[in-house]
Amino acid sequence: MKYYLTTPIYYVNAAPHIGHAYTTIVADLIKRFKTMQGYDVVLTTGSDEHGVNVERSAERAGKSTREFCDAIAAEFERQWKMLGLGIDHFQRTTDPRHAKVVNDLFQRCRKNGFVYKGSYTGQYCIFDNLYVNDAKPGDPCPDCGRPTETVTEENFFFKLSAFQDKLLALYESQPDFILPETRRNEVISFVKAGLSDLSITRSNLKWGIPVEGEAPHVFYVWFDALIAYKTAVEDEGLWPAELHLIGKEIVRFHAIYWPAFLMAAGLPLPKRIFAHGWLLFENDKMSKSRGNIVRSEPIQKVMGADALRYFLLREVVFGQDGSFSYDALIGRYNSDLANGLGNLASRTLTMINQYREGAIPASGNGGEVATFAAETISAAQKSFESFEFSKALETIWTLISAVDKFIVQMAPWKLARSQDPSAPQQLDDTLYTAAEAVRLVTALLYPVLPESTRKIWAQLGMPEPIESVRIDSLSWGGLKAGQKIGEIAGVFPRIELKPAVDKMRELEAEVTAQQQILLGKKPETAEAEAEGVARIAIDDFLKVDLRVGKVLTAQNVKGSTKLMHMTVDIGEMKPRTIVAGIAEAYGPEALIDRKVVIVANLQPRKLKGIESNGMIVAASVNDGKPVLAGFHEDIPVGARLK
Ligand code: MSP
Repeated sequence: MKYYLTTPIYYVNAAPHIGHAYTTIVADLIKRFKTMQGYDVVLTTGSDEHGVNVERSAERAGKSTREFCDAIAAEFERQWKMLGLGIDHFQRTTDPRHAKVVNDLFQRCRKNGFVYKGSYTGQYCIFDNLYVNDAKPGDPCPDCGRPTETVTEENFFFKLSAFQDKLLALYESQPDFILPETRRNEVISFVKAGLSDLSITRSNLKWGIPVEGEAPHVFYVWFDALIAYKTAVEDEGLWPAELHLIGKEIVRFHAIYWPAFLMAAGLPLPKRIFAHGWLLFENDKMSKSRGNIVRSEPIQKVMGADALRYFLLREVVFGQDGSFSYDALIGRYNSDLANGLGNLASRTLTMINQYREGAIPASGNGGEVATFAAETISAAQKSFESFEFSKALETIWTLISAVDKFIVQMAPWKLARSQDPSAPQQLDDTLYTAAEAVRLVTALLYPVLPESTRKIWAQLGMPEPIESVRIDSLSWGGLKAGQKIGEIAGVFPRIELKPAVDKMRELEAEVTAQQQILLGKKPETAEAEAEGVARIAIDDFLKVDLRVGKVLTAQNVKGSTKLMHMTVDIGEMKPRTIVAGIAEAYGPEALIDRKVVIVANLQPRKLKGIESNGMIVAASVNDGKPVLAGFHEDIPVGARLK
């Protein structure tokens, strides 16, 4: 029985952080759980490498686009190895095999009449060479804040509008196609509101998969990215996937576009999409500008990968947003892992050493603890099955507490000294019951805590590897009397809050700095960013040649509502030609003779066929109109600002 699941194919223009790790860890957990249920599981993750943003990131890093993608993709792979995740396929969208699968999808959709050539009109940022989806004329570019331009070009379109009813029928007939319920409702109302056709190619992008026989068209992001899930298992013929795990922000692409593409192509649909919530850092969204991005590596180094897994799965209700903080991470670790599971395992095993020379004693039927364990196994399995990981863990911890209580009640240390003739058997029963409960708990926790449960398993002296345990064979009495336990060692040593947090923060700064180097930033900047502020050295600032200029001529650029074509005197022999997106805020007459601030040493850029040799400095608030920088006192043309 095969089970194929995926994580998103992550963008390579940012280095991996615990947000990416979150989805990938859950995927690994599900893989292990499904394997325990007897499935043959295949897990795909990968990297989404095309598009202007990636090209620009590479440029900034001073690398070729390919080199840059190789480096970041390798960084993602390294992270998953470091965290011990069972990835089967790391699918890159730049893999040549992928180009074939994308083109095949396109051909199928086209043959079936769902692709047509049309004219695309949309918003585009000429400075960033970026198409801004869902923007209205005049909306600002999300990257630089400058007003976007309305452009028109010939593209291939996908007839998404033809799929409204089919999609609604799909959601209706398979109520668990999109989980959780909130996301399902969101998608349904979106589809009910009507779907417009999608432009799926671009003709002025370089870094993309060429549409075969249709140069210069390349595929536009999502049509390229989604099908990577299929490319990854093309050789095995494993499509369709049982499960796509994603974050909630990309649910529309997965629950609307993706099934529509597949229906149009006549290909089977994935069985289910689970869109989880956001991981926030100390209640704030993680973002580069806030400087609050948390990486997995420092946590793995200081506390181990299992500590991170446990925290993410126990503390965050899967499907909802959750908050990460170092304090809470360490708090959970100490209370549940060190004092809970770790303590129960080591006290049980130590007593077996002390009172029974390290051999599992023979025993009766385990009584109430055995009944409770059986209930726990079935409840936890149900919760895992329905993606309620925190609930599964809560359930398992109730058993841990019950066993702790049972040990205190039975007081083996007293039984060992008691002269009562029934005491030795009672001691046997107690020790067996505790050890058998530890065995069952350990097996149940393997999907969540693979590294530590493997250790506890070995300490119990179990002959077969924990990986081979099947959930349906987990029942009371599996622990063999006479089995010699292994060497006991603490699996979850207590962690002191302050030094651990200090160490993690220190490593965090180091890791961030390394990753910034990978992304092509200077280490000093990177360190400053890690502290939450992007600072530059004065030398960096002095590289910018800011000059006072006077506008000599100004005229609107033909065919554009935004662009103004000016000549500006900045004290050089010849005036500069400057094209700027200020025409909606200033007419030519308001500009002529005005003193302005010019960035004089920018590389020239062609805008609507006119070469602009400099940039005019203006302020703007969000999507407000630009306001030109100027002076209250008189100042000669050509003066430098510094
Ligand atoms: N490349 C697209 C996905 C294409 S899939 C065919 C993409 N990439 S991404 O790098 O932005 O990754 C987004 C995904 O990373 C989220 O959907 C989620 O799985 C994970 N996360 C990234 N940051 C996250 C949080 N802060 N919290 C939770 N998950 C987050 O979108």
